[in-house]
Amino acid sequence: MTDHATAVAHPNIALVKYWGKRDAAMSLPATGSLSMTLDVFPTRTTVTVDAGLAADVLELDGRVLEGTPLDRVARFLDLVRELAGDDRRARVATTNAVPTGAGLASSASGFAALAVAASAAYGLDLSPRDLSRLARRGSGSASRSIVSGVAVWHAGDGDETSFAEPTEAPDMAMVIATVEEREKPISSRAAMARTAETSPFYPAWVSDTSATLERMVDACAAHDLDLVGRIAETNALRMHALIQSCDPPIRYLTAASLAVLDRVEALRADGTLAYSTIDAGPNVVVLCAPADAERIAASLADVASTVVARPGPGAHLVEDDA
Ligand code: PMV
Repeated sequence: MTDHATAVAHPNIALVKYWGKRDAAMSLPATGSLSMTLDVFPTRTTVTVDAGLAADVLELDGRVLEGTPLDRVARFLDLVRELAGDDRRARVATTNAVPTGAGLASSASGFAALAVAASAAYGLDLSPRDLSRLARRGSGSASRSIVSGVAVWHAGDGDETSFAEPTEAPDMAMVIATVEEREKPISSRAAMARTAETSPFYPAWVSDTSATLERMVDACAAHDLDLVGRIAETNALRMHALIQSCDPPIRYLTAASLAVLDRVEALRADGTLAYSTIDAGPNVVVLCAPADAERIAASLADVASTVVARPGPGAHLVEDDA
């Protein structure tokens, strides 16, 4: 007997970053964070539970994957199997419209889609909060891609209270400025661990980011897009300063990233509301008002390839094509 379900999820871009875990096994973050789920670069995942399989199978864009990616997915499916009391293995088929591993949050959309599809395929009926907690175990930032639009992920006291939920925010857009589509040199998981172990600045990052999140939630609730942008850019540059302070150092920013940061500063000097944020990779995301997004994208066309994104839907089931 087989049971299957298909889900779609989108990446999210954090405006207050998650960088560091206080409990790696449970994927509990050192601080809370806040993000916008995008309406571009969807991940579509079908999970087929099959009693005839001796082991889980993972297919990404039609290619069978083994090793670390399969191990991560199989460990995640173990959590779902435990919740469902069902030890059958599954086939996971994923298609990703986001460049995998280039710092555009493919693990967020990936594990959010997997959490929704796998829990349905194994017959679980989880609340949005429990889906967010489950997605968190696959990849921390995936907890936020369960949520539509702007989400706050609470650090929480433990597993039960560390989940993402929607939060009031101004209308905004993001211009994704891709300068490179290569796989990043070191995964965010490994880089986070090295940061906590070796950076003398890590304790300051944790206390500053916790305070920053409170200011950001207030700025969002006040619909003050300029303040939201200022807080976001400062937080992102602090995260990259932190990452660069590891031993051995890690640097995700390239000359091409800095060229985009310079352009965004110039836009601001000309009176346009535009602020930069950057995840664990070289690509820059420009936060702006929806009415300015196309003009900003056009002005960056010679230094990056651009896509305009707006707030998108949380991870959800779609008609099954298994
Ligand atoms: O969830 P992970 O392990 O992919 O970590 C995400 C880290 C950043 O994207 C850099 C920041 C964030 O909050 O999304």
